[in-house]
Amino acid sequence: MARVYNFSAGPSALPEAVLQRARDELLDWRSTGMSIMEMSHRGKDFVAVAEKSEADLRELLAIPANYKVLFLQGGATGQFAAVPMNLLRGKTKACYVNTGLWSEKAIGEAKLFCSPDIAASSKESGFTIIPSRSDWRIDPDAAYLHYTANETIGGVEFQDIPDSAGLPLVCDMSSNILSRPLDVGRFGLIYAGAQKNMGPAGITVVIVREDLVGQALPGTPSIFDYKKQADNGSMLNTPPTYVWYLLGLVLEWLKEQGGLAAIEARNIRKAEKLYATIDASRYYSNPIEPDCRSRMNVPFRLANADLEKVFLAEARTAGLVNLEGHRSVGGFRASIYNAMPEEGVDALIEFMGEFERKHG
Ligand SMILES: Cc1ncc(COP(=O)(O)O)c(C=O)c1O
Repeated sequence: MARVYNFSAGPSALPEAVLQRARDELLDWRSTGMSIMEMSHRGKDFVAVAEKSEADLRELLAIPANYKVLFLQGGATGQFAAVPMNLLRGKTKACYVNTGLWSEKAIGEAKLFCSPDIAASSKESGFTIIPSRSDWRIDPDAAYLHYTANETIGGVEFQDIPDSAGLPLVCDMSSNILSRPLDVGRFGLIYAGAQKNMGPAGITVVIVREDLVGQALPGTPSIFDYKKQADNGSMLNTPPTYVWYLLGLVLEWLKEQGGLAAIEARNIRKAEKLYATIDASRYYSNPIEPDCRSRMNVPFRLANADLEKVFLAEARTAGLVNLEGHRSVGGFRASIYNAMPEEGVDALIEFMGEFERKHG
């Protein structure tokens, strides 16, 4: 069976080499006579896998020694709650930047624990820009400043790390982590669900500065308490061992690709040629301000919206799938994470040109 180019926003395409290796190792992992998913999470074999994945993540992202790396469950949505539970540290306010639907979800969940203060919002522009930094109002009494590095639905991405005016900077990096080099030392906390750039769904990475750990709100469930998880090597309960192993394979693949600088160069090439195709045509359009367009999720529309279903059907026939936009915004969205090969983007561009010639 031929594999398709899968533009899904998440769970997303995995590197083919990773899937092949997982297949090869499935029944008999390193001559143990069993699959890795059949082993105890506390046995030496799995513990070695878990430790290697942390070491590789630390290497790839150059994570400073004073940061804990946690592998948790509950998704990024779980972190929308875990962040205020752990980081309020006696304060009653936290600042949030609202750049789209994922920011709004984080804000909604924070309301269960504190009064989120909206430091800046691009809602009025329809989330097509990042609010100008000079307009951000950061309350010095807030516990932290939260932002969403890449809005997976809207297709808006921060191209640099914002200044948090001395507050611990907290970032939802679910849809662009590991897509470019990162200065982790600028952050108090980074979290990301794995299912876009790191592996299959089911595991969430949290990178948190040590001094922010250990002051969770009374009543915080143990599995959401960063200190308890850190003290237990993220194994307070049974972790999703197979997903963790697959995440480790993705990290090894990323190192083989040349690390984050190399993957960034490829990601820039992929995004630039796709946006160039959209911009050069009167038939396709993308509403996002050019300097905050996402390299990972590229939303676009057709001049003639009546042809959307035809576009999707013909794309599918050409082996290009999951191009539907999010149900809340419609149109199309091409998610072109690390695992999308450049040939996949080239195939989409070629298809878009042919479709325009045929129907435009
Ligand atoms: C930016 C962002 N944040 C949070 C989430 C929610 O992640 P999860 O489904 O792992 O809770 C997503 C999922 O697509 C996302 O793209």
